Amino acid sequence: MFGSIARRYDLANHVLSCGFDFLWRNRAAELIAGWNPKKVVDLAAGTGDLTLALQKALPHSDIVAADFSEEMLAIAKAKGVKNVVVADALALPFGNRFFDCLAIAFGLRNIKDRSAALREMARVLNDNGHLLIMEFSLPRISILRAIYRFYLHRLIPVLGSLLTGKKSAYDYLGDSIEEFPEGETMLRLIESNGFRKASAEPLSGGIVTIYTAEGSGGSPSRHGD
Ligand SMILES: C[S@@+](CC[C@H](N)C(=O)[O-])C[C@H]1O[C@@H](n2cnc3c(N)ncnc32)[C@H](O)[C@@H]1O
Repeated sequence: MFGSIARRYDLANHVLSCGFDFLWRNRAAELIAGWNPKKVVDLAAGTGDLTLALQKALPHSDIVAADFSEEMLAIAKAKGVKNVVVADALALPFGNRFFDCLAIAFGLRNIKDRSAALREMARVLNDNGHLLIMEFSLPRISILRAIYRFYLHRLIPVLGSLLTGKKSAYDYLGDSIEEFPEGETMLRLIESNGFRKASAEPLSGGIVTIYTAEGSGGSPSRHGD
């Protein structure tokens, strides 16, 4: 699905989010820069907008964009992403504890076995490393939630179809946001799969949430040891 919309993906993102996606990725890059990681992977990096923000925020760090769509990564490369790796999030081609930071923006929602994906992320992250997950969520305030749901289910499929020619991808977007865990459920999911100290920061009234957590701190129960 992502391969088929790769060429129009960025345009659709910027239009459908009214440009807010730049702010969200900049906030993610700002948080990550505060951890000062040396080795970073942007997982499910797609066309690389977060990777580019990270390259700018952390000019002396090694940053790699990983995704299983070659079409998306080709666009990332053309936009200036330096290191790309074709990789499935469920079987990452990296050693245990290789990274100081793993970021995944709008990616986890698309992976069916989220627990397995999180355990694989925990495996490649060093014990004191940081995880950042950025995902869509639903606003808490009911009037905002109702307006957002109208936009998500009625307008986005039409606009997405006009911009990319793939209505199904944008029907899927709304459905996948509805079923994605958020709040406490999401924090528990993260902490039960190899991470500690999970916390959430809602952005733009709660239509996006950044979840952060730390590596296992050497917990013996960690997968892959
Ligand atoms: C909505 S896009 C997000 C791209 C980018 N992170 C962004 O912020 O725009 C989701 C990406 O996840 C990738 N993806 C989905 N499942 C994956 C998996 N199992 N392994 C690696 N990448 C995956 C898709 O190829 C796609 O590029």
